[in-house]
Amino acid sequence: MSETRSSDDGTAIQTDTGTRTTTAGESDERVREEWTDYGFAGQPKVAVEDLDVHYGDDHALKSVSMGIPENSVTALIGPSGCGKSTFLRCLNRMNDRINSAEVDGSVRIDGQEIYQEGVNLVELRKRVGQVFQAPNPFPKSIRDNIAYGPRKHGDIDRGLIARLLGRDDKEEEDELVERCLKQAALWDEVNDRLDDNALGLSGGQQQRLCIARCLAVDPEVILMDEPASALDPVATSKIEDLIEELSQQYTVVVVTHNMQQAARISDQTAVFLTGGELVEYDDTDKIFENPESQRVEDYITGKFG
Ligand SMILES: Nc1ncnc2c1ncn2[C@@H]1O[C@H](COP(=O)(O)OP(=O)(O)OP(=O)(O)O)[C@@H](O)[C@H]1O
Ligand SMILES: [Mg+2]
Repeated sequence: MSETRSSDDGTAIQTDTGTRTTTAGESDERVREEWTDYGFAGQPKVAVEDLDVHYGDDHALKSVSMGIPENSVTALIGPSGCGKSTFLRCLNRMNDRINSAEVDGSVRIDGQEIYQEGVNLVELRKRVGQVFQAPNPFPKSIRDNIAYGPRKHGDIDRGLIARLLGRDDKEEEDELVERCLKQAALWDEVNDRLDDNALGLSGGQQQRLCIARCLAVDPEVILMDEPASALDPVATSKIEDLIEELSQQYTVVVVTHNMQQAARISDQTAVFLTGGELVEYDDTDKIFENPESQRVEDYITGKFG
């Protein structure tokens, strides 16, 4: 259904009533740039410009631009298939691992372009860590899950040769394991069984261990793709508290299907809608209480999606 309306400046504009208008009745396309131009103090930690992703013929993200402020929680919401995971994977170039994915556009972290030749992907993924939907600890001890990354990167030296050369960093490793488990609010539950297999932990504990593992390599940005969707309400609430806590020190970007969760934990919310468009991006309160886009309001109030 569509109708012709008169805009503020008197020009007639064609709108699809109910689907492609603003809450004030204007055309969606007309003002979308204003809705996604989120203003905040300081430089963005992550600056995304004109990001397009194709999987073969499927255009999964369409010219997305957004600035993500440092030390805050940014929620990404939207219906299934709208490109949230695709967007998240662009921020540490995990899409490079998907053969059919073609990424165009720019992503800068602290002003440095990550889509250029010569970028060290191991270093990038240290700076921009990721936590997945299903907890995926290594089938190793709790301690080894955390120490694995720092040992692999050579930040911690362990093993027979290190011992023979007198360079065994056991104390440093103990401190790191304790710090990360405390930061992930898991220390009290596991400090007496650090050498037990991580797969013996509950789902919620495993997810906090995965967060601790991510913290062990000293990231700056933490990407989380529906980190609590496989967990019960108590475990979910622990993860939510943890996310808020982490945002004092890290820049957290979290995908969630749970609107209440986005409203509870995030500072700003980006709404993606079907077709891979970023439709509105603003303070979380604004998005949930008074969005500009009619489509966003319909999505949030459960009318579609
Ligand atoms: N590895 C892939 N290969 C091909 N197409 C893909 C791949 N990953 C995602 N897509 C397509 O890209 C689009 C966006 O998918 P994406 O997984 O980013 O959505 P999403 O918003 O995270 O959805 P959900 O909420 O269900 O997790 C979809 O049409 C999907 O089919
Ligand atoms: Mg997804």
